[in-house]
Amino acid sequence: MLYPIELRVREREAEFKHAKNQYRNQCPLSPGAERRPRNPHQLALDSLFGELHSTELESDPRTQAMDVFEAVKSRRSIRAYSAKNVNNESIEMVLRAAMAAPSAGNEQPWEFLLIRNRETLERISAAHPYAEMVRHAPVAILVCGNLTRVRHQDYWVQDLSAATENMLLAAHALGLGSVWVGIHPREKRVAEIRSVLSLPEEIIPFAILPIGHPGEEKPPEDRYDAQRVYREQWGHQ
Ligand SMILES: Cc1cc2nc3c(=O)[nH]c(=O)nc-3n(C[C@H](O)[C@H](O)[C@H](O)COP(=O)(O)O)c2cc1C
Repeated sequence: MLYPIELRVREREAEFKHAKNQYRNQCPLSPGAERRPRNPHQLALDSLFGELHSTELESDPRTQAMDVFEAVKSRRSIRAYSAKNVNNESIEMVLRAAMAAPSAGNEQPWEFLLIRNRETLERISAAHPYAEMVRHAPVAILVCGNLTRVRHQDYWVQDLSAATENMLLAAHALGLGSVWVGIHPREKRVAEIRSVLSLPEEIIPFAILPIGHPGEEKPPEDRYDAQRVYREQWGHQ
């Protein structure tokens, strides 16, 4: 699926290619000349691109996303949310980030359940001992493993962990708040969530991520510990 902005950029690119060919045909390069004069079509299209970027891209959540290193450093678990809704474009970006994760042999064993229904969010909250914030979030994404997609035994948990971290980072980069609420491997939690959502047997609820506009602020924590890093051999010399 392409975002509307991507469709418009593609249209403009097609127009530009056509204009460039026309210009080349009409204006062959004179002997000895290194460059043609600036193509008037190109100038017009450049300015159109400029306009497109400065107007439409402002409403595109991707343009507001922060740099990945900044996101990694400043992400925190956010457990309070404002009443403001989270739009589908942002949710789709979070899901795209999830599915961009690495996985063993590229098996991609993940599937996702998007939940906005208030009653369902409340039932999930009630079924999990540490998920009080889920009932207050405008939306939550249940991250699941589909065991029929697993090709490399026992790696699915790592695959889903990579996807989940990508989701947290993407949400944070978009200015949203979220928290990783673990389900698998706690059997009771898996059973309770499975029952609330009537999940088929091959689907394992792995984690749930409530997502909302942050209702709390948390400073970044610098957890770097040089003592945990060894060089060339184990132990500090
Ligand atoms: C596997 C896993 C399970 C977690 N489960 C919960 C949970 O059930 N409820 C919760 O509020 N936070 C949960 N967390 C979030 C951690 O408490 C949080 O990441 C940790 O305290 C570090 O804080 P930070 O995320 O703000 O850096 C979980 C995190 C991970 C990685």
